[in-house]
Order: sequence, then structure tokens, then C-alpha cells
Amino acid sequence: MGSGFALSGLQLQPNHLLFSSRNFTTLLPASFTNSRHLPLLKLQNQPSLISSCVQVNSTVSQGTALSDICSTETYELADINWDDLGFGLVPTDYMYVTKCSKNGKFSKGDLQRFGNIELSPSSGVLNYGQGLFEGLKAYRKQDGSILLFRPEENALRMRTGAERMCMPAPTVEQFVEAVKMTVLANKRWVPPPGKGSLYIRPLLMGSGAVLGLAPAPEYTFLIYVSPVGNYFKEGLAPINLVVENEFHRATPGGTGGIKTIGNYASVLKAQSAAKAKGYSDVLYLDSVHKKYLEEVSSCNVFVVKGTTISTPAIKGTILPGITRKSIIDVACNLGFQVEERLVSVDELLDADEVFCTGTAVVVSPVGSITYLGERVSYGKTGVGAVSQQLFSSLTSLQMGLAEDKLGWTVELS
Ligand code: COI
Repeated sequence: MGSGFALSGLQLQPNHLLFSSRNFTTLLPASFTNSRHLPLLKLQNQPSLISSCVQVNSTVSQGTALSDICSTETYELADINWDDLGFGLVPTDYMYVTKCSKNGKFSKGDLQRFGNIELSPSSGVLNYGQGLFEGLKAYRKQDGSILLFRPEENALRMRTGAERMCMPAPTVEQFVEAVKMTVLANKRWVPPPGKGSLYIRPLLMGSGAVLGLAPAPEYTFLIYVSPVGNYFKEGLAPINLVVENEFHRATPGGTGGIKTIGNYASVLKAQSAAKAKGYSDVLYLDSVHKKYLEEVSSCNVFVVKGTTISTPAIKGTILPGITRKSIIDVACNLGFQVEERLVSVDELLDADEVFCTGTAVVVSPVGSITYLGERVSYGKTGVGAVSQQLFSSLTSLQMGLAEDKLGWTVELS
């Protein structure tokens, strides 16, 4: 094992620190304590970031000078309270906008000050829901550079969705370039390491005017960003889900498998009712048999039994999550058996652990499921070991704390 240290199957590298935020643990390089960060921390009037770090590696305590470990530059940050981030819009400086007309080609877009946009009251998106969105995140590394996670996957998913919604879409290159441009223009809003991420929200919409039902004559591709923390109000603590037995999120042949805006409006009623009863969110069942798991309103679901991890297969009614796909690969690499198939609600109730995945939620452990009035709880000690292990492995990659052997991250400087 060398001078590393294994945590739930994760190999810690020399000179890393465990960073604990309530229930989950992740890694930060020991160089995070480098005194060269201090002007930044003081500037932002931060309570001590490093006070929540626990040094676990002997190399540092045996006398390695912390100032030798990295050559970190200070970087300018927006003047907000980085400890207060939830998942709400924090307006930033710039958004990217481009349009395309009937020829299907998007012109070279540009950055505009973030703000309201003008739309025809008769636009396709407002009248007939001709719109798609994406979500991805940028993380700041301790040296100030910024990492994107698999942006080309979002570009490809937007193209698939656009085809289904009769919309032209930017090419993968255009999409990724636009994301990079938007993030760099707003880089002072990328949270410091360990404080959250910059959520990137690309939108594709029918902005041209229509009255009769038809594809819009003009489209707008827009990207805005917002610094975010945890998605659920529970933070990283396990969430409590209720299985929805009346309403369905999607049906075979519908648009459940793409990220169209209407899929999200249609879950609000069940979600609001669940929240009013104290649940964190809703888990949907298939609309044909009312027996097999689909997804949660905003994320995919996984069920753990022993060393097998199962998740509903992609068959048109659930969103092909990029975090879902990444977790499947990470879990396989860690030696778990991963099955993509029909997963019944009975298996859910009999599971050892349940967790959700999504860009916004990352890996979110489920503490309890309520189905037809019966509540089943998982684990007595908070986050399950498998959820913890997968969370740590994935976020270490996303934050640039583990070697990216799969080439998933894109570094911006
Ligand atoms: C995401 O995870 O990025 C999503 O798009 C879900 C959204 C409801 C926040």
C-alpha cells in the first residue's frame, strides 16, 4: 500500500487530508494548509477552512515542509459567503448566448452580462415546451485551476434530446468551447476547494415565434452558471424518499429519456406533496406495471445488496445520467458487480443500501423509503459503506484529487 492509506477501498495519496462534511468524507491535499492560501482565506473572511481537516498521512507529520508541497497561486474570488451555498441561483457575471435559424447552424456565440432575455410571447419554448437543458459542474483545484467533468457527454446528450424534440443542436465542439468560455468568464464564482462547485446550466430552446403547433423557426443556445453547494436541504445526510404510486414521470415512447424541460415540470405536483409530508423527494415507478423502479425527480437510483449494485436499465423512460454512467464504471473498477436491469420495488425494500446519483446531487445516500405507508430504513449509522466509497472515489476524480486514468476531466487554466 506504500505510504498511502485505504479508506473504504480508496487509496489515499501521500500528503492528503481527510475533509469531513457532516456525513461524507473526501480528500484534500495537505497543501491546502499552505500558508500561501491564507491571503485568500482572509480576504473572504472565511472561518478556518482547514480546521475541519484531519491530517491522516504520516509524511507531513514527519516533517515535510508544507510550503514545499505545491506552488499554489492565490486567485480572486467573488465576495460571497462560501460556507452558505445551497442549490439556489447566485447570479454571476456572464452568460453565453448564440442563436441559429432554419439552416440549423449556430453562429459563433458571445458572452453577455448575465441577465434577463427577451422572448416572443409566441416562442416555441413558452407555448409548446420545445426546450432542453443540461447540467454539469466545474470544481476548483487547490492550485486554482478549474476542472470540468465529462462535458462532451452533456453535449452528446443534448444532441440526442434535440433530435427527439425536432431542434437543431450545437456540435460537441461548439458546446464544449461555449462551456469553457462561460466558466472562464465567471471563474471568480467557482468555489474554493471543498466549498462546492460551479453548476453550469446549458439551455437549448425554440425561441422563434409559432402559433400553430410546429417546430420553432429559430433556436437559442444559452449557458449560465451559479456556484452551488449541496442539492438536498439534508446536506450530505441520508435523504428520505417516498415511492409514488399514482403519478408517473414518464411512459414508454414518451420523452422520459431526454432532458426536456417538461419532464421536470410534470414531477412538481408529486414532489410538492411529498415535501409537505416531510419527505426529501419522490421515487417513481414504471407506468405499465407499477412495480419497477424508474428514477427520483432529479436523479437516478441504485440499490445495493451484498457486493451487487443494481440500477434501472436505460430504456427510454429514465434519464441516462452522466453521474449514473460514471458511478457504474467506478463501481466496476472497485470490484462490485453492477447490473442494469429491471429493479423491482420489492428488491428496493430488501436492499442493504440505496443511493441516488446525479450532477446536482452527486451521490446521495437514502436513509429511508416509504412505500404504501410502510417505512423501511437503511443502516443505523448514517451513510452506508458502499455509498461512502463511491462518493469518495467519484468526487476525488471530479476535484482532481485522484489520478484521472479515464480522461474524464478537462482542465481549464
Ligand atoms: C442535474 O442534476 O444537473 C439536474 O439537471 C437535475 C436538476 C433537477 C437539478
